[in-house]
Formats: sequence, structure tokens, C-alpha cells
Amino acid sequence: MQDRAYLKCIDEQCGAKYPITYTGVECMAGHLLDVKYKDIPPYSLRELFYNRRNPQGSIFNESGVWRFRELLNFCQIDTGDAKMCSKHLVSLDGAEGRLSKPYHMGRVAEFVGLNSENLWLQPEGYNPSGSFKDNGMATAVTHAKMVGAKKIVCASTGNTSASAGMFAANEGMACDVYIPSGQIAPGKLSQAYQFGTQIVKIDGNFDDALDQSLRDTKENNGYTVNSVNPFRIEGQKTIPYRALEYLGWEPPDWIVYPGGALGNTSSCGKALMELYDWGWIKKIPRIAVINSKGASTLSDLYNGSFEGEKLRWNQGKPNIELIHRYYQSLDEQKKRPNTKATAIQIGRPANILKGLRALEFTNGIVDTVTDAQMLDGMSAVGLNGFDCEMASGATVAGIKKLTSCGIIKKDDSVVGILTGRQKDPMLPVEYHNNPENLFARPPKD
Ligand code: F0G
Repeated sequence: MQDRAYLKCIDEQCGAKYPITYTGVECMAGHLLDVKYKDIPPYSLRELFYNRRNPQGSIFNESGVWRFRELLNFCQIDTGDAKMCSKHLVSLDGAEGRLSKPYHMGRVAEFVGLNSENLWLQPEGYNPSGSFKDNGMATAVTHAKMVGAKKIVCASTGNTSASAGMFAANEGMACDVYIPSGQIAPGKLSQAYQFGTQIVKIDGNFDDALDQSLRDTKENNGYTVNSVNPFRIEGQKTIPYRALEYLGWEPPDWIVYPGGALGNTSSCGKALMELYDWGWIKKIPRIAVINSKGASTLSDLYNGSFEGEKLRWNQGKPNIELIHRYYQSLDEQKKRPNTKATAIQIGRPANILKGLRALEFTNGIVDTVTDAQMLDGMSAVGLNGFDCEMASGATVAGIKKLTSCGIIKKDDSVVGILTGRQKDPMLPVEYHNNPENLFARPPKD
């Protein structure tokens, strides 16, 4: 039984395999890992997933993550057995992924120039800790529990630390969070304190915090829950699963995400690759990744604005030297990622190779938007009675940009992921107090 799921290096030539209980986030040669499954899940499971929407007393049916547990069965358990599930699977009482599904938002559709019927937005901020991270944290902490970890560790621009802290508090685990000092939204920082995490302030940005946390974790026997952890990616696959299920498993033309460390891009790509391999979907949606202009590593490399070469997965042979030279040039110019959307203020996306693989598989594209465009996107979502944070506004701003230049066609169907809730309360206040902003409604005296 123990070998139905295992870990495999993403580098085809290396191809190293590890047992599912392996806790490193890389192979010996330093490449990221995938969770692999030997069984092909039958198409008929779709009906079971749908029927679980009537949870019949099981929190694992209520959960928008574990409802799809046959497609993430790295615990290799009998997923129909409730006792077995509660022994192995970690859940916030079934709340992760439960409320997030695609919605039509008329005001946003009008703003981006699409017909409301063709545009869906999926508010992942409606997760218990307020961001999409809970999808992947449920699975990463399940693996942490499987291997007997006592302490989980992450670096974060805020949402990961909030999610890790919430799960750790629920499971009675210790949790260390490495945070770029002064660069995270107050609502996120207060969650990290409130959930009893040990905050480690890093004098640097997210990339520095991640480096430091990975070094310390190796030395201190902690368990990393950043998206370099392949089990995080497994849980985040349920974001596109929920979207696809809602659309009757008929894939849209586009799935749009903001891009930071590229865990989401990677997990969406892996979900689609697997579903396609299993014969569950025939059409492959195109992924669009939207970077902030101030943190545009993927866009610069993918679109060839550095040294003129367009970086590609290249069927498993990406030009890694190009990435290194890009990072070196950022260091030489002392160029740091810089955007008010601190969630995606990331210069060295740790999942860049998995992200490139996802883009190649889906014929994806990458673009950038400005801070002002993200704020307008965030505000348009607000006018539909949903709230999202500025980084999620990149999704809306990106859809608008791609629609206005004709890359997204007027009758294309588009699912945009709103990754997190508003945790920077002064941003909307400042936005609406400036009458020059597109949607501003300044207060009356
Ligand atoms: N949107 C939000 C709200 C985020 O918090 C993040 C990442 C992203 C988008 C980017 O997603 O990394 O999958 O490309 N936040 C991380 C954190 C880095 O620490 O909370 P990605």
C-alpha cells in the first residue's frame, strides 16, 4: 500500500524518487519535488464529490479541500472511512475551501469589458484565515502530522503566516514565522500574533526571509510549510477543482492568478496536467499570471525583457543560468521588489520552474499591472459586495488589460482567482478619500 504515492523530482533527467514520508522540499541536487500517484482516479468520482456537498455529518465532506480527497490521497488511506479520515487528515472543522466557488460579478465584468456571463471570480479570501493559503496548509499540515513534526515554519508576506498559525494553533503545534520587517499588512501581522506564532523579524524582504527560514529549518528540525513544500501544492489543486466542478468540469478558456512565489500557478498547472492525463478534461485552459510592475521577475524573464531571451520550461530543460543572471543583475543594481501589494512583493519566485512548466502545458501568458490598476481592480470587486486585497486586484486588472489588448477575446470564458481578503484596512480608506481615483467615493463633511 505504502507506494501508491511517492515524491519525484521535477527534473526529468534527475528523476530522483523518495518515499512519501520524505520531508525535504528538494531532491539531493536541489530540484523541487512533485507528489505522484500511481492510481488513475475514475471519472465517476465526480458524482461522489458533488454528492458530498450534502456533507452528511462529515467535516471532510464539508471541506472544499478534502471533498476531493481521492485526488490528493498521499496519506494512502481508505478515504470513505470517516474514522480513518479523522485520524489522518487535518482540517479547520471542514471550513477550508468551503465557501470559495466562482461567482459572477456584474460590476467587475463591466469594468474589465467582458460579458458578465463569461466571467467568474472565485474569492479564496473567504477561507477561515482569509486567504487561499488554507487550501494548501490543510494538506501540508496533514503531511507534517504524518511525519510527526512538532513545529511548522514558514517565511511570509503575511497570509502564509496567518494560515500556518491558525492550523498550528488548532493542532497544538509550534509555529515559527519569518516576516520581512515592516513589509506586511497590519491585519496579517496581528493574525500571526493572535494565533500564538513565534515571529522572527527579518531585516530584508520576503526572499531574504525565505532563505533564512529554510536554513534555520534544516538546522532546527522544523517542518517547512511554504509553497516549495510539494504537499502545499496538492491542497491548492482544489482551487481549480472547485472552479471546474462549478462549471460542470467544462474548462474555461482562461484561469487568471496574481503571481508571487508561483505556488498557485504551479498547483493549477499540476491539477490540469493530471486531469488531462486521467482523461477528465479534454480542453486545457490557458493560465494567465499577473505580476505587479514593481515585482516582475516572471514577466521580465518570460517575455524576454532581460537579455532578449524568452525563458521557457523548454520541455524540462529551462535556461537556469538565465534566471541566475537575472537575480545577479537585480543584486548588482540593488533592485528590490517594490509594490504596495506586499503579498506579491517577491523578487525570486521559489516555484519559478514549476510555474514555467504550468505555463508551457497551458500555453499560458504573463503580464504586469501597476499599483494604481490593482487598486482599481480591488475596488471594483468591492462594488460587487465582495472584498479582496490589493494583490487580488491584480487578477481583475490583468483581465482588463488582456481583454483590452485582445488577448482575452470578448466571448472567452474566464475564471479569475481572488486570492485574499482585505487585511490592510487603510488602503480602501485612502483610495476612496482621493477623488482622483476611478471608483472613489470620498466622504461628505
Ligand atoms: N495573493 C495573495 C493574497 C498572497 O498572499 C500571495 C502570496 C499571492 C497572491 C501570490 O501567490 O505565491 O502562489 O504566486 N503570499 C505568500 C505569503 C507569499 O507569504 O503569504 P503565489
